[in-house]
Formats: sequence, structure tokens, C-alpha cells
Amino acid sequence: MEQTVAATSDKPQDQQPSPYIKFVRPHLLGLAPYVGVEPPEELARKAGLPVERIVKLNANENPYGPSPKVARGLVAGSNYHIYPDPEQRVARQALAEYAGTDVGPEHIVVGAGSDELIDLLLRLFVGPGDMVVDCPPTFGYYAFAIGVAGGKVVEAPRDAEFNLDLEAFKEAVAAGAKLAFVASPNNPTGNVLYKDQVEKLLETGIIVVMDEAYYEFCGVTMVHLMPKHDNLVVLRSFSKWAGLAGLRLGYGCFPVWMAELIRKIKPPYSLNAAAQVALLESLADREHLKGTVRAIVAEQERLMAALKELPFLKVYPSQANFILCAVKDGEALSLVQSLEKKGIYLRYYDTPRLKDSFRISVGKPEDSETLLKALRDWGRVKGTL
Ligand SMILES: Cc1ncc(COP(=O)(O)O)c(C=O)c1O
Repeated sequence: MEQTVAATSDKPQDQQPSPYIKFVRPHLLGLAPYVGVEPPEELARKAGLPVERIVKLNANENPYGPSPKVARGLVAGSNYHIYPDPEQRVARQALAEYAGTDVGPEHIVVGAGSDELIDLLLRLFVGPGDMVVDCPPTFGYYAFAIGVAGGKVVEAPRDAEFNLDLEAFKEAVAAGAKLAFVASPNNPTGNVLYKDQVEKLLETGIIVVMDEAYYEFCGVTMVHLMPKHDNLVVLRSFSKWAGLAGLRLGYGCFPVWMAELIRKIKPPYSLNAAAQVALLESLADREHLKGTVRAIVAEQERLMAALKELPFLKVYPSQANFILCAVKDGEALSLVQSLEKKGIYLRYYDTPRLKDSFRISVGKPEDSETLLKALRDWGRVKGTL
């Protein structure tokens, strides 16, 4: 799941609060919502453009979409009236073979996106007041989901280059945290964590959740460490490399003791039959998907080089299918808004650590061209080019 825009409320403005609101758990009432990305049709409506003109570079989606075998498999499927296997046997077997030599089906749990596995981990470990390490700037869903669970976020801020700060992490652990979420590559900064660093995190003795949603774009994984460490979880997603964001498919590789508990508490049928078809067809067609991943990585490098030519941008390195940029003269918002008028949607940030920044999801070469032209036009208007 990705967060970009503020949702418009469907609630009438003058509606009185329900008397039953008193039964809602109080910590949820004050919680800021997680706002997901809007669909292309809505973006087109806002921009006043036909949907084909929308260049959607705001949610790290895969512009090439799923394997063509997915659509064929979905049409051929026949058991949609039967509940899917609550034990996810076929999917777990296929994923174990994909995830790596040391991973077996006993380690795996599949979810409706890796978001669901994040929620299940919190359901397993975090109750009201329990502390969880978050390493900002990072994927906003962690802090939101910790809040929903009633947990308390303990921040271990990343350093100036957005690399993980081990000392800050240790301080967060010393404050009493029991669990940490660490994305690698990190969204939105693109930094990767290597084995030596991860081993140091594991030595702190808390549960370390390595979120590898973008693994296929960089090839760096910690999954082989998992069977040797009872406190390491690796999360993966089919939303990005396999182009299946719309079908909601993620999985986790857990130590056996934890996988058993996660399976025990999960909703029984969260891997739906359509997602299972998509999973199996994607894995069977992984050579095709690896080809689209290679195209995205090549395009990322080409786009990165072109962005670096623009004097008004600071471009951060990235090992994923997105690029973080800061606008040097502090006009990121007006830049992003002017692009939106042209139907080009990026992810804008204005947090203290990501001031005047935006993240570009890598699209097809023609998407990059449209974006680069609009950026150059903006630079000319501003006199910075
Ligand atoms: C770091 C990270 N983890 C997890 C997710 C969620 O992925 P999914 O679509 O599998 O729920 C995202 C989505 O943007 C992400 O950036």
C-alpha cells in the first residue's frame, strides 16, 4: 500500500457524532488516517484530462503490469465458489522454492499484501503501550499500523544520507522496544542494508522485521539469515516486481515458531483464490517478469542520470524502482502541483526530514520523457535552466 493524497470525506459536514462513538477504543479516535493512493480515473478527473494522459508515478507500481499468464490463469480458474485453503499449502510450497534454498513451506505465511503481514506481526507482538522501533524517513504504514495496534513508536532516525543509524537503533531498543521494522531497500530513500548491519540489529535481541518489498530490483536479501535467527522476519511483496498491486499479494518468511503463531491468528482465507492463481502463474513466468524488472532497473539508471542534469534538483541514490529528489530552492510543492495539472503524479513529502522532496516511481521510457520535459519546462519558467 502506498500513501499520497488526502481523501475527500463523504461525510456531511453538519453530521452529529453518534452516541455510540463512546464505545470506540479511544486511541483510534485521534489517530491520523493512512491515506492510500487514488486510482487513475480519480486523478484524471482532478486533472481534467482523459485517463490515458495520466502518468502515474506515485505508488511504485509496475508499469508493465503482471505476467500475461495471470489473466489467462484467472479466466481458466474454476473454483472461485470454494473457500481457499486456509493452510495455503500450494502457495507456500511454491514460495518456499522461490524464496531461497534455506526456506521451507513451514517458514511461510501469505497475506493480502505485505501490509497484512505487518498488521499480523503487530497483532502477535504489540498491545497498548508496547514500543516498536521505526527508522524514519521510511514507509509510513509502519507508524500508522503501530498506532492502530495501540503501540508506541520509538524513532531511530536515519543519518544524513538516510542510512540506518545503529547507535540510534540501540537507543530505541534500550528504551524498551520489542520489535523493529526496517525496509531494505528503504522507501522512499532507496538505501539497502547489508548482512553485517542486519546481524548487528539482530544482536540487540528484539524481533527485526526486514521489509524486502523491493528486493527483486536490487537482489540483496537477508532471507538466508532467517533460519539461523529466531528473531528475524523477511517480508516480500508481489505488488512491485510482479505487477500485482491490485490483487494484494505478499508473504513473510518467519522462523518456524513465529510462522506457526502467525498462521494461528491470521484470518483463515486472506489468500484469496484469484491471488493464489496470480501467484502461481507469476512464479511459473518469472523469466518474463525478471525481464520487466531489468527494463525498470535500466530505466531507473537512465532517468537518474537525466535528473542529475537538472540543477534545481538534489537526486538521491536508490536501489529500488523509485528515485527521491529534493528541490534545492524549496519549491517542491509548486513543482509537484504544476506537474499534476499536466497529469503527472509524483509522491510529495514535506516532513522535517524530507523537506521539499518528492519521489518518482520509475515508469516506462515514455513516462520518463513526459516527466523530464515537464521538469525542464518548469526549470525554464523559474529561470533555473
Ligand atoms: C517498504 C514497503 N513495504 C510494504 C509495502 C506494501 O506492499 P503491499 O502492496 O504488498 O502491501 C510497500 C508499498 O509501497 C512498501 O513501500
